[in-house]
Amino acid sequence: MSTDARTGPAPAPTGPLSTIDYTERIPNNVNLAGDRRLQRALEGWQPKFLDWWKQLGPALPTKDVYLRTAIAVGRDGWAHFDHVPMEQYRWGIFLAEQDPDRKVNFGKHKGEPAWQEVPGEHRAALMRLIVIQGDTEPASVEQQRILGNTAPSIYDLRNLFQVNVEEGRHLWAMVYLLHAYFGREGREEAEQLLKRNSGDLDAPRILGAFNEETTDWLQFFMFTYFTDRDGKYQLGTLKESAFDPLARTCEFMLKEEAHHMFVGTTGVQRTVERTAELMAEHGTADVLPYGAIPLAIIQKYLNFQFSVSMDLFGSEQSTNAGNYYSAGLKGRWMETRRKDDHVLLDDVRTMSYVEDGEIRTRTVPLLNALNLDLRDEYTADCANGVKRWNQALEDAGLPERLLLPHEGFNRKVGVYAGHHVSPTGEVLDEDTWNARVDDWLPSAADRAAVAALMVPEYEYGKFAGWIAPPKTGINDQPVEFDYVHLTEEGLA
Ligand SMILES: [Fe+2]
Ligand SMILES: [Fe+2]
Repeated sequence: MSTDARTGPAPAPTGPLSTIDYTERIPNNVNLAGDRRLQRALEGWQPKFLDWWKQLGPALPTKDVYLRTAIAVGRDGWAHFDHVPMEQYRWGIFLAEQDPDRKVNFGKHKGEPAWQEVPGEHRAALMRLIVIQGDTEPASVEQQRILGNTAPSIYDLRNLFQVNVEEGRHLWAMVYLLHAYFGREGREEAEQLLKRNSGDLDAPRILGAFNEETTDWLQFFMFTYFTDRDGKYQLGTLKESAFDPLARTCEFMLKEEAHHMFVGTTGVQRTVERTAELMAEHGTADVLPYGAIPLAIIQKYLNFQFSVSMDLFGSEQSTNAGNYYSAGLKGRWMETRRKDDHVLLDDVRTMSYVEDGEIRTRTVPLLNALNLDLRDEYTADCANGVKRWNQALEDAGLPERLLLPHEGFNRKVGVYAGHHVSPTGEVLDEDTWNARVDDWLPSAADRAAVAALMVPEYEYGKFAGWIAPPKTGINDQPVEFDYVHLTEEGLA
């Protein structure tokens, strides 16, 4: 198992230990019992959340699932594992420990004490940031709703459900902030978070990638690798926020998020391993007849999920992003480790753009290019997994390699929108693009071929033919552990 914090399992949380009270209706470490109004408001939202979970959460009927539940936010033993019926999962509100001396680390308020309340002038912008983050959490649960029906193993099924319940908890995290700090408007937004639904024509989720269907398990793994990783980077900027409750909320969410990316990294890895094994064994790239996913299709799925996730960072140049930074609402990735003045009024950087059919670079103010700054950090991180997957090909003695496509490939947002850029970075005319696009993005036929391989394997310790088993189980349990107990209905 990797010890790389970016691709490995959940990191050990830091900070002192604070245990969460599970005797309360809503487990929390924010002293909810001490604020009766807030407690009542959240208890009013809870049944609506549970209705949403029943309607749009995992479709496969289960008795119980071996799940991780947060029991503390501190350094040691922050999570407890046990079989629990999913609808009885204890979704709660957990913030990382408060640092009473925490300061604003960037922007024009740099050096001032961090805010414990929302300043009036930043109220609308902060609420917007929280709503956008909050909207992605239930969206992914909705997107992954039917995947349980085709799980390649009970181990993978458990990981899917773990991701799902924790995305549900991330929704709770954002709803807590809305209820606690934004009054009636915040409560109204919390209602809307359950009313918008992924792919809904009338009330879709806010961001594009969260309205795409998760059609199969390969896409799920690509989603948890590339799109949950976008989440990691967005949370990383909010973790720097001058608004301390938001910063502490996001810090704790990041601890859970690491497991989601682990599911993606290892899921793609195991898919590639199986493909490589059959390629080597049969001396052909066409492993579909042998029940595995051809590398060319894996590459297309990768191209797709990377490009739609890149769009989530927004336009390269954004006055909003600069304003959020200067105001202290949203920092940079690893803000405090950056070696500059953290105000950025005089800093510049280069950025690529398309002009006259070629990719050129120009110099722009850094403050206006913070979305690009974050996206570059993300891209570098994405490359790590690809390297790892290529190691599996190398180990199998194969010359083929997976590639991260060019940043301009298949983009709908920012400077590349409206242009056609190949995965290797050539600017193409419309006809050339149309002639080649099926080589680069999954076609209907590719998706159908993958879907045909997605047969459920619910026998403990067995795996569908298209994916290699993991090296180890979850929480030191064996791979063949009974991670999920299905109901008779689920088995049928
Ligand atoms: Fe999340
Ligand atoms: Fe996630």
